[in-house]
Amino acid sequence: MKVFKTSQLLVKYLSKKTRPLGMVPTMGALHLGHLSLIKRALKENKSVLVSIFVNPTQFDNKNDLENYPININKDLIELRKVSEKIIVYIPKVDDVFGNITKSKPFELAGLDRVMEGKKRPGHFQGVTTVVFHFFKTFAPDFAYFGEKDFQQLLIIDHISRTLKLKTKIIGCPIIRENDGLAMSSRNSFLTSDQRKLASLLFECLQLAKSNAKKIPYSSLKTLISNFFEKNEGIALDYFIVANPKTLKEFDLGQPIDKGRSFVAATLGKIRLIDNLDIP
Ligand code: PAF
Repeated sequence: MKVFKTSQLLVKYLSKKTRPLGMVPTMGALHLGHLSLIKRALKENKSVLVSIFVNPTQFDNKNDLENYPININKDLIELRKVSEKIIVYIPKVDDVFGNITKSKPFELAGLDRVMEGKKRPGHFQGVTTVVFHFFKTFAPDFAYFGEKDFQQLLIIDHISRTLKLKTKIIGCPIIRENDGLAMSSRNSFLTSDQRKLASLLFECLQLAKSNAKKIPYSSLKTLISNFFEKNEGIALDYFIVANPKTLKEFDLGQPIDKGRSFVAATLGKIRLIDNLDIP
């Protein structure tokens, strides 16, 4: 497996022989969700580039950045098990940003002003800055992102299309634990009690799915907030049903036929998100 620490050497290595090139950008702490993206990319491309880079510009909270789980050696072992053909890029901050570690302003059509964007100011500008940089530098033919971060997927697809980038964005289904919890690097921080409670995110989305058509959206919101209030140790941050293309929230007075439900909840200091389509 080829491992590169600088983009200069990696760009030199990439050639017609490595195309079509699929890319899976990650921040490491790889889990089965990441591996499923990588396996799909391996099926659909001649080579697959996996970046492992904890991007400082997408963290609005210093503690969150400092505590982000990093285990490069374990990640490399996992990647080797999947395929020796994977190309890995593990840069230091200056290889990506040079001397100025700062986001660039991207026009995101308001997609960054709701949900995670509202809760974490500047987060999506940080994500798009680094992803845009990877796309410009390595020009992957395809890039794979999980639907767990649905808003991120939509925003990256938006920049790829509006800036007419070569890279086509492929959204991939959420990989879940047996009890429905969406796989995430943050799950590793949960205590065993929190881990049990964490399955409530998926349960609430299923509850919403089965009731969305039957009651007005305002009642659906009350149903979900009551559902969380019954449980100590987990706090609902938001529950929203929105148009999956524009992320525009539905009208409170009407039942919902078709859309996507989004939830964020905190367990102690850990914040988890999930989403599910409706119906
Ligand atoms: O989803 C992530 O892990 C990150 O936001 C990404 C896309 C790798 C950008 O840093």
